[in-house]
Parts: sequence; structure tokens; C-alpha cells
Amino acid sequence: MTMFCSLLSLLVCLSPAALLSDVTAAWEGHAQDYKHGRPYEELSNSLPCSWKCLTFTLQWPAGFCQSLDNISLCKIPPSVNTWLIHGLWPMKALRCCSCWPIFLSDIQEVQEFLEEQWPSLIKSRSNFHFWKEEWEKHGVCAACVEGLNSPLQYFQTCLKLRQHFDLQKVLEDGGIRPSCERPYKLSEVLNVLVPLIGDKCEIQCVTDDQEREVWFQVKIRLSRNMTVGCAHHDYNLGTTPISKGHPCPSEGSFYFFPIDHLRPLQPCE
Ligand SMILES: *[C@@H]1O[C@H](CO)[C@@H](O)[C@H](O)[C@H]1NC(C)=O
Ligand SMILES: *[C@@H]1O[C@H](CO)[C@@H](O)[C@H](O)[C@H]1NC(C)=O
Repeated sequence: MTMFCSLLSLLVCLSPAALLSDVTAAWEGHAQDYKHGRPYEELSNSLPCSWKCLTFTLQWPAGFCQSLDNISLCKIPPSVNTWLIHGLWPMKALRCCSCWPIFLSDIQEVQEFLEEQWPSLIKSRSNFHFWKEEWEKHGVCAACVEGLNSPLQYFQTCLKLRQHFDLQKVLEDGGIRPSCERPYKLSEVLNVLVPLIGDKCEIQCVTDDQEREVWFQVKIRLSRNMTVGCAHHDYNLGTTPISKGHPCPSEGSFYFFPIDHLRPLQPCE
């Protein structure tokens, strides 16, 4: 319950800088974190904690729909109006095991926030299915680090990161708003985002069925201690199987589609 309350107050009260330092603080001390999850010793044989960098990925719902092979599988729940969490991925962690099962009861404390900020946008995939997939594919590998070493801590940390990396706000403040008419240049977007998310970020686009480049995702590089950027070069994770994303073109421009709940698949037809 303490964690829940502190998360709540963080979401409501604190400045971004304080949020990030809280996330960082979660990495230090807290030997008793192990009480909440399976002891690290049990997993350490199968999980070399070899990674140095994390990628925190946020997705833009209107663009995400365009990234699906079968676009009609996309749904945008009515409550969704902003950037969503896709995942927090240790880089170059080889296959995670599915040796640490996750149950909805593990993350019930934050379920309400996850539903709002980390919903599934795929019709056939429930929210929990999405979270479970992310935990099993990435979370278990991340769990060798203090502060990420249980499902609850992993998801709580992701929520705090999402709160800290408030793309919506900096984009709006920087005059970058969703539009069907006005495409943006990569340099314009980077000028606004880099101070928050660092210059090692990746701005990702997909090509829609009218051959337009459409912004759908942002990858933020983090060190193990959650500071922005990562000095190591093990960035490339490979592509997410369901997604056909690529870096947005550095020449030319791309679209930042508005979210249209009534026509999620064709917001700009
Ligand atoms: C796409 O998804 C829809 C809805 O589930 C399904 O009816 C259709 O057959 C799928 N199309 C392809 C090409 O898989
Ligand atoms: C975080 O880790 C990076 C890379 O290892 C290091 O350069 C930096 O000083 C660390 N920052 C803090 C606040 O510990």
C-alpha cells in the first residue's frame, strides 16, 4: 500500500525532476525489494544480467493503428487521448525465460493506471495479455536489477517514467500538435523533444496505405540507473514482430495524426 500511495502522490504532486530522482532512488538501497518478488538468486542462473541500456518506448495511438499489418485489428478506447506506454526493454538481453509467471493480482495496485496509460490497442489482445507479454518478453530480463525485480515494481517504474516523459506537454508547448494538414520535419520534433528525452532517442514512423510517413512511436534510451541516454552501444533490439516501424525520415517530413475515436483507422481520410 505504501508503494501505491507514493505512486499516487508522485503522479499528482511532484515535478518531473523529482519523479526521475525518485525512479533513480528506487535503484539504490531497498534491499528489501527482494521480499516482494522472487529472490534474485533463484533466477540468476538462468538470467545473466548482461544488459547495460534500457529502451523505454511510448506510442502514439493514431499512428500505432497504421503500424499494424491488419489495420482492422486496431481499437482506440474512448479514454485514450495521449501517448501510451509500449514497454521498457533491456537491450540485447537475449531471450527472457517465461520462468516468472505474472498474475493480475500481482499488479492490481496499479491496474487502474495501467488501463489508462498502457492499454492494448489490438482488439484480440486484452490489456492483461499485453502486460503479461511485455513482462515475459522484457520484464523478466529487467528483473535482475533492484527496483525492477518484481512485476509490480516493473510496472510501477514504467508508470513513473511515463509521467516523467510527458511528451504531450513538451510537444504542445513546442507548438507540435496533431494535424492532418501540417506535416513536421524531424529537426522540428527533435528540437522540442531532445531536452527531455536525450539525443539518443529514436522517432519512429510507419508508411500508411497512401504512402505517407506517419509518426507512431518514440524510443527513449536509458542507462540502468534510469538516467537519459546510455553510453553503451548495444541499442539495437531488432524490430517488434507486429510492427513495421522505421526511423522517421531525416529528409522531408511526416504526419502526426490526430486521434479520432470514431474513425481510428482513417483519422485523416
Ligand atoms: C483482419 O482482421 C479482421 C478482423 O479480425 C479479419 O476479419 C480479417 O480476416 C483480417 N484480415 C487479414 C488479411 O488477416
Ligand atoms: C548513471 O549511469 C551512467 C552510466 O553508467 C553514469 O554515467 C551516471 O553518472 C549515472 N548517474 C547517476 C545519477 O548515478
